[in-house]
Amino acid sequence: MTAPILTSTLLVPTAVSSTVTTAVSRVTVLAYLVAAILFILALSGLSKHETAQRGNTFGAIGMTLALVATITLALTSDPERGVWVTALLIALAMIIGGTIGVTLARRVEMTGMPQLIAMLHSFVGLAAVLVGYNSFIAPDATAEALDGFHLGEVFLGVFIGAVTFTGSIIAFLKLSGKIKGAPVTLPGRNLINLVALVASIALMVWFIMAPEHSAGAWIALVAMTVIALALGLHLVAAIGGGDMPVVVSMLNSYSGWAAAAAGFMLNNDLLIITGALVGSSGAYLSYIMCQAMNRSFVSVILGGFGTDTSSASTGDETDQGEVREVSAEAVAAMLDGANRVVITPGYGMAVAQAQYPVADLTQKLRDRGVEVQFGIHPVAGRLPGHMNVLLAEAKVPYDIVLEMDEINDDFPDVDVVLVIGANDTVNPAAEEPGSPIAGMPVLKVWDAHQVVVFKRSMATGYAGVQNPLFFKDNTSMLFGDAKASVEAIIKDL
Ligand code: TAP
Repeated sequence: MTAPILTSTLLVPTAVSSTVTTAVSRVTVLAYLVAAILFILALSGLSKHETAQRGNTFGAIGMTLALVATITLALTSDPERGVWVTALLIALAMIIGGTIGVTLARRVEMTGMPQLIAMLHSFVGLAAVLVGYNSFIAPDATAEALDGFHLGEVFLGVFIGAVTFTGSIIAFLKLSGKIKGAPVTLPGRNLINLVALVASIALMVWFIMAPEHSAGAWIALVAMTVIALALGLHLVAAIGGGDMPVVVSMLNSYSGWAAAAAGFMLNNDLLIITGALVGSSGAYLSYIMCQAMNRSFVSVILGGFGTDTSSASTGDETDQGEVREVSAEAVAAMLDGANRVVITPGYGMAVAQAQYPVADLTQKLRDRGVEVQFGIHPVAGRLPGHMNVLLAEAKVPYDIVLEMDEINDDFPDVDVVLVIGANDTVNPAAEEPGSPIAGMPVLKVWDAHQVVVFKRSMATGYAGVQNPLFFKDNTSMLFGDAKASVEAIIKDL
């Protein structure tokens, strides 16, 4: 008796479910629209410190709504399979994905975020490839009606997904230091990219023209996938160390376009909108980063970025002179007599987790009437906005945290600059033609009366370029872990 009862409750009767399905799909369209508006509000909120938390909340509500709507639609859209089977499949996927996500997020240090993000981009790329193949093998009714157009969607989705997949894996390996950050430049690099692109276009024509599911169509699809995987690998491998920030945001953009392509194949409007939002905001962020690094946007898109004369070299071996070491006590005395102090943090502050003592020092100096400001370079750290996040976490007031352009002309009027774990972003070599970082705008800290550099050794920064700032007459080096050094200064103040 139990088996038939169980079976009949597992299956939603088709007559009822078709009415339910129509109603659910209408409500879903509305929910998607509201979620899309919430995502736009989230993006606009995240563009400013003051509204970032609100933006985050909008994004979380939008994502919850999108998930509930999508799951409900999935549960009711295939009555033949039965609600419980669909629910079980979704729950399984969510448990596996959720467990991986939570484990990774709990383990990752703030300094490991860039590589985690690169890894997550690769998942989006892989998902787009799998959705593309699935949509080719088993197209739904809408896809079948679209015919050639649907095949075009499949082809583009797989292409973008495959480039994103391997490109992101290389970015992950470079950012986590598992492979060398220097650019790998093959002879005729641009020609290779062009040939890969032209071959992919030719394969797309073949794929669409070939009889459906014929051997020809399969060969075209698989051949393009192999080419796209190799192209992603080649594009990112050719980009060098100090230029990696732009790669992170470019791959962010690619992952958005891959998601949008998956949205077309799955006939899911929200995925198309969300993918387009991520794709275009990532592209805009890349544009801003290119401007910050004084690089050309087009050359980044072509993947020919940071090669040739740039980024390939390591530390400058020429003798730069002697550096002057200073004690925490002397820095405390220096700060005691200062009227205006600027702090320029960099990646080392994140490594040392020095943002809390830095916030403490700032408060102590402000309490004594010293004017304290922060100068933030657009690519300081390893993530867009990395320093802003750390300082916000330590509750440094937003109004004293200034962008590079807002403070760069003020340095001649500054008594003391504290360079806390920054290197490339304060490197005067950027002003010398021929330097690997030539042309990159930097914080002109050397124009201040006194500069104190907090670092552990004379090692170079991310771009591997020696820093003449350390050897200037008005620069002193405070060697040691940045957190311990700042705490020592607070004690001596
Ligand atoms: P970097 O040039 O990377 O220099 C960081 C400095 O921090 C190093 O000189 C290091 O010297 C010091 N440091 C490390 N750990 C420390 C600790 N515990 N205490 C004290 N000092 C410590 O930093 P930056 O000026 O922020 O420049 C960022 C670089 O990363 C740029 O080249 C940028 O292009 C690149 N990048 C940025 C991004 C984004 S989106 N922001 C993404 C990828 C790459 P010691 O080892 O001697 O201590």
